[in-house]
Amino acid sequence: MPKSLDQLIDFQIVGQFNGVILKDGYRIKYVKMAIAAQEYWVKLPKELSQSFNPNLVVGSWLEIIGTQSLDRKKGILKLEASSFHNIDAPNISNISDTVIAKPEIKQKKPACILICQKSDCWQHGGKEVYQHLEQALRDRGLSDRVQIQKTGCQKQCSHAPNLVIMPEKQKHRHVKPSQVDGLLNQYFGDRFN
Ligand code: FES
Repeated sequence: MPKSLDQLIDFQIVGQFNGVILKDGYRIKYVKMAIAAQEYWVKLPKELSQSFNPNLVVGSWLEIIGTQSLDRKKGILKLEASSFHNIDAPNISNISDTVIAKPEIKQKKPACILICQKSDCWQHGGKEVYQHLEQALRDRGLSDRVQIQKTGCQKQCSHAPNLVIMPEKQKHRHVKPSQVDGLLNQYFGDRFN
């Protein structure tokens, strides 16, 4: 199991069929389940997807048993079925999604780039680095997710231009505009995928 995935835990849910998501236009990859006003997507392994009736009427009741895991990197709860059964409409008051663990997903700390705007940095390429950062974030559609903050002297004037990547607190010295893309790939490449 990849490190970013939490341990697998069994789940058992009862809910109403709400459609399917197809892969390659024909194979049922996910079954959508409406449970207590929420929709869950449950992955069907190949062997199960072949036995699932794609013409099942939306609103039909299903019981699905399987395993759940949390992809911490993406903050996604993954549900995979090991079996499913059509059932009669149960007593509504007994329905809940409490069998599915609601993992606490830690909010990622905000991403930010602190760039020194004092004269030693600014006049030795800092301004160009700043402009490249702005443009590169715009090009990647990340302007609203990665802030650029101009700061006072970072006490590293002899290594100008200087910047710090947050929340990692990684200091970078002698930064050149040509390094901007590499830095964004390094720190934010998969953060917002
Ligand atoms: S002027 Fe930028 S670190 Fe001092």
